[in-house]
Amino acid sequence: MDPRSEVLLRQAEHFAGNLLLAGLPADDLLGQLPAAHGWSWHAGEQAQLEARFPGRCHFGTEPAAARFDAAVLFLPKSRELTDYLLQALAARLPGGMLYLVGEKRAGIERASKQLGAFGKPRKLDSARHCQLWQIEVTQAPAVPDLEALAEHFSLQLADGPLEVISLPGVFSHGRLDRGTALLLKHLDQLPAGHLLDFGCGAGVLGAVLKRRYPQSQVSLLDVDAFAIASSRLTLTANKLEANVLAGDGIHAAPHGLAAILSNPPFHQGVHTNYAATELLLREAANHLQANGELRLVANNFLQYKPLIEQNLGSCQTLAEAEGFRIYQASKRR
Ligand SMILES: C[S@@+](CC[C@H](N)C(=O)[O-])C[C@H]1O[C@@H](n2cnc3c(N)ncnc32)[C@H](O)[C@@H]1O
Repeated sequence: MDPRSEVLLRQAEHFAGNLLLAGLPADDLLGQLPAAHGWSWHAGEQAQLEARFPGRCHFGTEPAAARFDAAVLFLPKSRELTDYLLQALAARLPGGMLYLVGEKRAGIERASKQLGAFGKPRKLDSARHCQLWQIEVTQAPAVPDLEALAEHFSLQLADGPLEVISLPGVFSHGRLDRGTALLLKHLDQLPAGHLLDFGCGAGVLGAVLKRRYPQSQVSLLDVDAFAIASSRLTLTANKLEANVLAGDGIHAAPHGLAAILSNPPFHQGVHTNYAATELLLREAANHLQANGELRLVANNFLQYKPLIEQNLGSCQTLAEAEGFRIYQASKRR
């Protein structure tokens, strides 16, 4: 059981009714709270919850339309996303109870102040390195307009400007990541066919690929509903069309790909997590056509080359700058 869920269950008398659990972990909490429903924006956790508790968890960037009498937000990593989520929940709970739970090292103490916009925060519990906060929503806000909270920025690229739209919580919100910038300079001579932007975030790479290779089918995949929504906005803003897929890891990707391009994930929440990237390197060959190519950018300190060579074939370093490397490997026939 996630320690945040354990803290909730220590205070179970507050959570017996028609409750919405927003950003809940994929553990047994829905089993322990039979009247509760979930709202997840992580495709992997959603899939696990759906398998265990069919129909009890909703995936997306907004809470489902069904009524709830109280809500718990599991503190996400980004402050902007916390603001949006608290507002989206408080707007639906005039006079109701809103709770915030999170790990101390994730900044729960500071985040509890964000609750103050809607009522008077009160600390209900502190245990398992977590805190649980509560407010009665005395000042319910209007339902937030997620798109109005997006950051817009323009990249001046060799083939013209690209508009990027990033929503709260999305990687490198409001600016171009330096690793991605390096990869954008090394997108020449990709094999013809279906291209995948793995872990697409706001969709910068996928949009540039579609513009550079208009004859190619392009897919963008991310685990996060806010990234998926951002990628769609970025594509539309640039009048581009591509497949945008929500899914957890390379297993959710199409097969027969000509190339997989990625600035792969290495942080998840407050924990460093290489699992999705390791799986990508191990399984890429199964998703590539013969002579298909994997091209990715990584921090110098991340030792991906041996894993790529074990699973795909000889790995070249195409470029190196500002602490990042571009790796390239082609699938053996
Ligand atoms: C380093 S960011 C790169 C984002 C974007 N491509 C860019 O360059 O700005 C990695 C992305 O991978 C996504 N991600 C993390 N775990 C994932 C998983 N298991 N499956 C698919 N995407 C994942 C994250 O949500 C994040 O958007």
